[in-house]
Amino acid sequence: IIKLTEFVTANELATMMNVPVIQVISTCMSIGIMVSINQRLDAETIDLVADEFGFKTEYTSAEVSEAVAEEEDSEEDLVERAPIVTVMGHVDHGKTSLLDHIRNANVIAGEAGGITQHIGAYNVRLKNGRHITFLDTPGHEAFTAMRARGAQVTDIAIIIIAADDDIMPQTKEAISHAVAANVPIVFAINKIDKPGANPDKIKEGLAQMNFLVEEWGGKYQSQDISAKKGDGVFELLEKVLLEADMLELKANPNRNAAGTVIESSLDKGRGYVATVLVSNGTLRQGDIILAGTNYGRVKALFNERGQRIKEVGPSQAATVLGLNGAPQAGDQLHSMNTEQEAREIATKREQLAREQGLRTTRRRGLDDIAHEI
Ligand code: GTP
Ligand code: MG
Repeated sequence: IIKLTEFVTANELATMMNVPVIQVISTCMSIGIMVSINQRLDAETIDLVADEFGFKTEYTSAEVSEAVAEEEDSEEDLVERAPIVTVMGHVDHGKTSLLDHIRNANVIAGEAGGITQHIGAYNVRLKNGRHITFLDTPGHEAFTAMRARGAQVTDIAIIIIAADDDIMPQTKEAISHAVAANVPIVFAINKIDKPGANPDKIKEGLAQMNFLVEEWGGKYQSQDISAKKGDGVFELLEKVLLEADMLELKANPNRNAAGTVIESSLDKGRGYVATVLVSNGTLRQGDIILAGTNYGRVKALFNERGQRIKEVGPSQAATVLGLNGAPQAGDQLHSMNTEQEAREIATKREQLAREQGLRTTRRRGLDDIAHEI
């Protein structure tokens, strides 16, 4: 991958790919473009040439990506925020059972109305008074899809492994996702109520992968649990909170909201509905928002209990009504000061996306022709 902040010359592109400039020029000639050494190439040509030499391009300048400028928060404005946790693991090892137990059971402080809506994320208050936000998106597909879009929403990963099974391919995959994202791991060794369960075998397997658990002298926290009966679940969550304490997670609730779109859809009665996990600031009804190539004014906000709310702060999720389209999971959301600004950036992004789409189709067209010849 070569990262570009501006459109480069033939010479600069050659240097980036570490090939003689004459090869770049002759590649251009072969596709019918005459260029000189110091001629600035357009995006389409750069992509074609890079592709020829086995490189992918990525444009990172603000001009190209239309990033929203974010101000740094000063230390005294920051307050503690709840950790955002994802549960990952092999198929059938108990992800859903664990999340269901946490959602329903006595590990959380009783709140009138319970969690009724599936909105992709929910925040629970534990009986010790502390909060955790769970991302309840299906497995690690969502995790990787969002990471691929540059969104890092998870603070801590729970890797769940069934003690009556082995460390399986998806377990390893989940571990490597967490490691790649630099997200701390807490292991949950599940199904310990089952007759054939052997938690030590799992810990042994982890040790062989260089993930030595704490009770064996390593640095990784792990907890034996039964997601079905609830045994060990509160202890697991306490370990998650310990991990969170070390991360010193903070946010500034007194600023324009920034967050990540978790999911979105078109609802017949309500229009476009997006679930947003706020990472910083406070999102309020009436705010002008920008999310991916979409924008609008927040008409209404709902929490995971289906209740209408006026505002939502850091590490909290809400469904948002009022966008003019459905943004993609992983898109960043920002509250903007003016509607004009939101519209301009959304339009520019849409234009860029269209151009990029056009470029790839045109390139595919060239390939097709090459095949026909
Ligand atoms: P997928 O979403 O399909 O990947 O599975 P999952 O990881 O969400 O697993 P799920 O929670 O659906 O559990 C799979 C099966 O294991 C179900 O039949 C659960 O009832 C069972 N199960 C999960 N946790 C436990 C446990 O602690 N003890 C026992 N005995 N069974 C469990
Ligand atoms: Mg499941």
